[in-house]
Amino acid sequence: MREINEKVFAISGFRLEPVAGLVQPRVFLENLADGVFLCTQYIRHHSTPLYTPEPDVVHEIVGHGVTLASPRLAELNRLFGKAVQRTKSADALERLSRIYWFTIEFGVLREDGAVKAYGTGLLSSAGELGKMHQADLRPLDLDAAGRQDYDPTHFQPVLFCAESFAGMYQTLREYLVNW
Ligand SMILES: [Fe+2]
Repeated sequence: MREINEKVFAISGFRLEPVAGLVQPRVFLENLADGVFLCTQYIRHHSTPLYTPEPDVVHEIVGHGVTLASPRLAELNRLFGKAVQRTKSADALERLSRIYWFTIEFGVLREDGAVKAYGTGLLSSAGELGKMHQADLRPLDLDAAGRQDYDPTHFQPVLFCAESFAGMYQTLREYLVNW
């Protein structure tokens, strides 16, 4: 983690900070505003290498560590944190958490005629990455994503698909700035 941290920090200014166990969604998201990503440290059980319902160190490094080394994705993470800091009601926080889930965690987009993952949950699950094309791929609509329930314990049946990386970045950025 230290090695990855140095590289990510040099590119986007983000730091991966180890925490023991899961933290509250608000605490996790608000830390993003300051360029801090709170990282779990345990690793998935060796009997289920392709998937884990809870974030483990593979998810944090292969998923979040790699994407936080993208300046644009790092900026979106920061904007999520700032939007959460401005969010008072539990209902609005819930909607924002769902939007984080369907973009940063499980976002997909089209590129060169193919559907590709930019979401950290997909990037860190070889099992789900191979199956994501079978999901109900809906056009990226952030209001709809905010209303969409999800279950973290199995592969996602619904995914929101952007038309391009640039389109996803612009849409999400504007939405978060105006939140
Ligand atoms: Fe995650």
